[in-house]
Amino acid sequence: MSNDPVLSVKNLRVRYGLFEAVFDVSLDVGAGEAICLLGSNGAGKTTSLRAILGALPMAGGRIRFLGEDTTGLPAVAMTRRGMIYVPEGRELFPTMTVQENLELGAVTPEARLRMKDSLAFACELFPILAERFGQLAGTLSGGQQQMVAIGRGLMGLPKLLMLDEPSLGLAPVIVEQVYAALGRIIRTGATVVLVEQHVQHALELCQRGYVLEGGRVVQQRSTVELASDDSLRQAYMGVD
Ligand SMILES: Nc1ncnc2c1ncn2[C@@H]1O[C@H](COP(=O)(O)OP(=O)(O)OP(=O)(O)O)[C@@H](O)[C@H]1O
Ligand SMILES: [Mg+2]
Repeated sequence: MSNDPVLSVKNLRVRYGLFEAVFDVSLDVGAGEAICLLGSNGAGKTTSLRAILGALPMAGGRIRFLGEDTTGLPAVAMTRRGMIYVPEGRELFPTMTVQENLELGAVTPEARLRMKDSLAFACELFPILAERFGQLAGTLSGGQQQMVAIGRGLMGLPKLLMLDEPSLGLAPVIVEQVYAALGRIIRTGATVVLVEQHVQHALELCQRGYVLEGGRVVQQRSTVELASDDSLRQAYMGVD
C-alpha cells in the first residue's frame, strides 16, 4: 500500500476570461478522510471543485487522483475513475423519474453491476426515495431533490465524493436529515470533500478544513482547531 493521498491538488489556478477566480489552491485528501472547504460567497469553492473534476479548464497547477497525474482530464474521465461531484443546485433531470435519475449515476460497468445494492443503500439512507421512485424529479421538494442528488452520487461508487453545499436552501429539519445521512456515508469509510456554508455542520462532520478567501487557501487546520478560532466563528458562523 502506498501512502499517496486519494486526491492531491497543487497550486490550482482557474480563470474566467481575465478574472482569476482561483489561484494557489493546494489541498490533500487521504483515504477515508473527510475534509471541508469553507469560505464566503465567491471565495472560489465551486470553481475549485469544478476544476478539480475537469468540468472547468485549469489555468495552472497539478491534480493527482488515486496515484495518477490526472491534470487536464475531462470530467467524464474523472467520474469514471470514481471522482463523483454532487453539484451545487443538484442538477437533476426534472422530467425523468427518481429511479431514472438515480440509475444515471451508475456510470461504470462495475457501478451498473452493483446497481441493486447501491439503490438499496440510497433508499436506506433516504427512505422517502423508495416511496417516490416513479415520481418525476422536478416535482419533488428541494430537500427530496438533494437526497436524489446525493443518492445518484452514491450510485457511481465514489472513491472520492465531492459535495457542493448540500444543505443550500433546505429547511432546518431537512438539513438535519441530510447531515445524518452524510455522517453515515462518512462512517462507511468514504473519502469526502464537503463545501458548506453551514459551517457548524461541516466542522462536526469533517476532520480537517481549508478556508478559502478571494480564490486562495488562507487556512488549513483540523476542524477542532477551526471550531475554536474566534475570528473564523465571527466571519462564517455569525457567532461573536
Ligand atoms: N461563470 C463565471 N464567469 C465569471 N465569473 C465567475 C463565474 N463563476 C463564478 N465566477 C466568479 O468566480 C468567483 C468564485 O466563484 P465560486 O462560484 O467559485 O465561489 P463559491 O465560493 O462557490 O461561492 P458560493 O458560496 O456563492 O457558492 C466569484 O467572484 C464569482 O463571481
Ligand atoms: Mg459555490
